[in-house]
Amino acid sequence: MTPNPASAPPAQDGRDSRAFALTEELAELEAQAIAAVEAAESLEALDEVQSAYLGKKGLIAQVKRQLGGLEPDERKTVGQAYGRVSGAFAQAEAARRDTLELARDERILASEQIDVSLPPRLPKRGSLHPLRQTLEDILDVFVGLGYEVVTGPEVESDWFNFDALNTVMDHPARTLQDTIYVSGLHDGEPIDPDQAAVREDGTTGLLLRTQTSPMQVRTMLDREPPVYVAIPGRVYRQDTPDATHLPVFHQIEGLAVDTDLSLSNLYGTLDAFAKAMLGDEVKTRFRPHYFPFTEPSAELDAWVVDASGKGGWMELLGSGMVHPNVLRAGGYDPEEVQGFAFGVGIERTAMVRYGIPDLRLFADNDVRLLSSF
Ligand code: DAH
Repeated sequence: MTPNPASAPPAQDGRDSRAFALTEELAELEAQAIAAVEAAESLEALDEVQSAYLGKKGLIAQVKRQLGGLEPDERKTVGQAYGRVSGAFAQAEAARRDTLELARDERILASEQIDVSLPPRLPKRGSLHPLRQTLEDILDVFVGLGYEVVTGPEVESDWFNFDALNTVMDHPARTLQDTIYVSGLHDGEPIDPDQAAVREDGTTGLLLRTQTSPMQVRTMLDREPPVYVAIPGRVYRQDTPDATHLPVFHQIEGLAVDTDLSLSNLYGTLDAFAKAMLGDEVKTRFRPHYFPFTEPSAELDAWVVDASGKGGWMELLGSGMVHPNVLRAGGYDPEEVQGFAFGVGIERTAMVRYGIPDLRLFADNDVRLLSSF
């Protein structure tokens, strides 16, 4: 706004009228400026008002610049008016700024608020693979019974996998038809020159373990009795995948060696295991069987009712009292200690537990199956 002398009231003389006009103008600017401050709806708008009135080219600042051209007494009058107006403006501006800043902070708080207690809104949540879940549950049972969990190599010598387990030389399991032999070479170097030679029948001394049982002897060679261990792991066989066979599957071996262990300790242990996995009402039976490394040997069956209500005995695991020759291979004296052992198929247990009819489903990793666990 430019000063408009025409609107100024009549003055007594030229000098007075100039000071009077400027004072009047300041009063008018004050009213305008304070109204503009109060109308500012944002901090940016308030900044604009600030520079429109008090900035370098601001209207109130322009009046101040004219002070220099006034007589000292005029300068005093107009200067005081200027001081009062700019003070009032600063006060109004500060108050408005506080209000706008508070409103802005509240807006930010409201829009950026997060509720940390909300559950994640993910389309899918990860879960353990049913085999991993079953493996952990089985181990939990045996850890609860005082067993220690140990693991061993997947590339094994045929001595541990067969010989030490009292398996005769011409046992069919040893043939290329059942067992996957490895060349014994690693980076072109023999892993163990004595073991790596290819024999007449095409086998080598090194194989992918066909069972977790070799860990029985490794464990005995490694520790003194009493021994209570559970050994989970991957095992390999020459098999073409179908509903009940995979070339790679999982077992948990159990071995207990102590004084005064009998078949009833074994049965009690396995029955507790079956109940923990399949429920307290599950019926189990011990069915005589043959394994080279146990005598006597038995398989444990559980009575399982399928979805259609039809019941049947399902084989859960192989077991038996550790053969004296196996105790000897492990450096133990069969006159002093007895042992029992068992081998649980993890896939088999999971199939019974979840009613899964086809082994291959565990390997497919189809998300539709996995997300149902
Ligand atoms: N190793 C056997 C298999 O793979 C399972 C087994 C049977 C393990 C009897 C044992 C046992 O420890 O006592 O079929």
